[in-house]
Amino acid sequence: MLAFSVKSMLVLKTEKELKSHLSSLGDGKSLGLVPTMGALHHGHTSLVQRAISENDTTIVSIFINPTQFNNQEDLKKYPQSITKDIHILEKLSGKVIVFAPSVEEMYPQGVTSTAYRFDGLDKVMEGAFREGHFDGVGTVVETLLRLVNPHKAYFGEKDFQQLQIVKRLVQIKDIPVDIIGCPIVREPNGLAMSSRNERLSPALRKEAGIIYKTLETAKRKFGTESAKSIMDWAKNKFKGHPNLELEYIVIADEKTLMPLKGKKDNKKYRAFMAVYAGTVRLIDNIALN
Ligand code: PAJ
Repeated sequence: MLAFSVKSMLVLKTEKELKSHLSSLGDGKSLGLVPTMGALHHGHTSLVQRAISENDTTIVSIFINPTQFNNQEDLKKYPQSITKDIHILEKLSGKVIVFAPSVEEMYPQGVTSTAYRFDGLDKVMEGAFREGHFDGVGTVVETLLRLVNPHKAYFGEKDFQQLQIVKRLVQIKDIPVDIIGCPIVREPNGLAMSSRNERLSPALRKEAGIIYKTLETAKRKFGTESAKSIMDWAKNKFKGHPNLELEYIVIADEKTLMPLKGKKDNKKYRAFMAVYAGTVRLIDNIALN
């Protein structure tokens, strides 16, 4: 299907349509890109609002990227709601442009990932538990950045490791774009907003608020306790929540993502967690200093 408009919203489906629209924008106008996989919630829209406020034109891409799913079940279950997403964006601003390409359009040479060297950023935490995930993310983000060529691209701190990897990607590939990290948007009980939260039962969704409470306490403890003692305390706490399975808690240097080995005053640290709530995998993180 080719480009279509829902009321005032322009939805572009192909590279050709995108290029032709971009060339009509005029020189000297700033362009922002917000890459998403759709199923939009307030976490996504906070990025879009920031992009709108900082750019003349904002493009939101909606593309469920097959190469970043290490688990095919997760890909199959990923919510698809393009019509609803378009309405959400339309309510935000008539000025947003949606780019919603097909898999063939994004992967004309076949659905495979580029192998990147991210200096170990991709080997820890999410990278350790999700084989090939960050090569998939890198591949689709590089393609989007090259197609759209934005001045700024917006990513959430919810996926902090992804944010750092995208920053490294544009460095190693010399892509001229500012990567902007945006704060995590949370549900009232502290649970980080995620498209996956929809798959939780009401009881589990409530109980999953413990993830952020744990991170907040970790932050409080960080001034006086060692990383090991904080991580042991957190692991123990989760033993009291049999419906939630703690996959990892890691305290790491924010830049290198390497586990903390002896605090340094001039370094910034974060705590990162991944938790299974039933079959739903949730991630979150917090700045500790
Ligand atoms: P997706 O999970 O749809 O997220 C799109 C963007 O929204 C990411 O930058 C993510 O960090 C941000 N985001 C999600 N939940 C958030 C929250 N609660 N608060 C703040 N930001 C939030 O991340 C991806 O898609 C993909 O990996 C993508 C970058 C699009 C590449 O396919």
